[in-house]
Amino acid sequence: MTRNFFFKNMKRIEDFTVIQHHWLNENTFLIELKSSGQLPVILPGNFAQIQINNTPGVFLRRPFSIYNADYKNNTLTFYIKIVGKGSRELGLLKPGDITSIIYPLGNTFSLPDKDKVLIVGGGFGIAPFLLLGKSFREHQKKTTFLIGGRSKQDIMLASTFKKYGDVLITTEDGSLGEKGLVTDHSVFNNNNFGYDMIYTCGPDPMMKAVANIARNKNIPCEASLENMMACGFGACLCCVVETTSGNKCVCTEGPVFNINDLAW
Ligand SMILES: Cc1cc2nc3c(=O)[nH]c(=O)nc-3n(C[C@H](O)[C@H](O)[C@H](O)COP(=O)(O)OP(=O)(O)OC[C@H]3O[C@@H](n4cnc5c(N)ncnc54)[C@H](O)[C@@H]3O)c2cc1C
Ligand code: FES
Repeated sequence: MTRNFFFKNMKRIEDFTVIQHHWLNENTFLIELKSSGQLPVILPGNFAQIQINNTPGVFLRRPFSIYNADYKNNTLTFYIKIVGKGSRELGLLKPGDITSIIYPLGNTFSLPDKDKVLIVGGGFGIAPFLLLGKSFREHQKKTTFLIGGRSKQDIMLASTFKKYGDVLITTEDGSLGEKGLVTDHSVFNNNNFGYDMIYTCGPDPMMKAVANIARNKNIPCEASLENMMACGFGACLCCVVETTSGNKCVCTEGPVFNINDLAW
């Protein structure tokens, strides 16, 4: 039976039905889940805490960015890389299985005043950027996605992102796009850099390197952090990040932060 509860701040805890998986490689998949009701508005950057069923030793929900929201069919899609028991179990769910989700959690990215934006994603860090790219298209921003991975097997969904902007790629082994880290991409060496705002999500060292470039170029930059989480509600304090105005919970006051507010 489907259970739906609504928190005071309109966060929901709701049972979703698995519709399908779309496997991108042996350890990465998209999973589409259907709500029994009308989806609330999902903002780019929002995430969900997904319940992991049938997995001894995994008691806590796991946080995942909302990759896509389809308001016509009331489905959410998540882009998941298997790293441990919880993400593996989500890959084993079958169509028709039920899983409980708390959503939409977290804040969102800001809309730039100007027109040209660069979005830099590493690994599953590209997950929050499909909704952002869609929003920028609606607001007629010119978007470039810079996607980095170790090798071409890690570069997934580039053709999907291409619908919403230009796509640049780096791989560490040079098997696709320019060879090197995302921050080595020639787009950053260009004297006429031309972007008005940078957004980034991915491993911390990558985001810090992108933030340094943005600071050096005096360009505003927002980073979506993926600190380890437990409750997802601001109760356990396990996700805190040091900011210029003290420690803040990434789950309630983030995950998106202006880099100038972070003590990086
Ligand atoms: C706001 C937010 C959004 C996220 N969005 C996505 C997403 O869209 N797609 C996706 O695949 N993953 C995402 N993650 C990471 C995801 O939550 C973890 O990979 C997942 O919780 C791991 O659970 P597990 O049980 O499979 O592995 P565990 O057994 O819990 O952990 C396995 C390994 O992964 C490491 N790990 C666990 N959590 C994280 C984390 N947050 N960051 C880095 N390493 C971690 C652990 O240290 C351990 O080494 C997000 C995390 C946050 C906080
Ligand atoms: S995860 Fe518990 S306070 Fe953020």
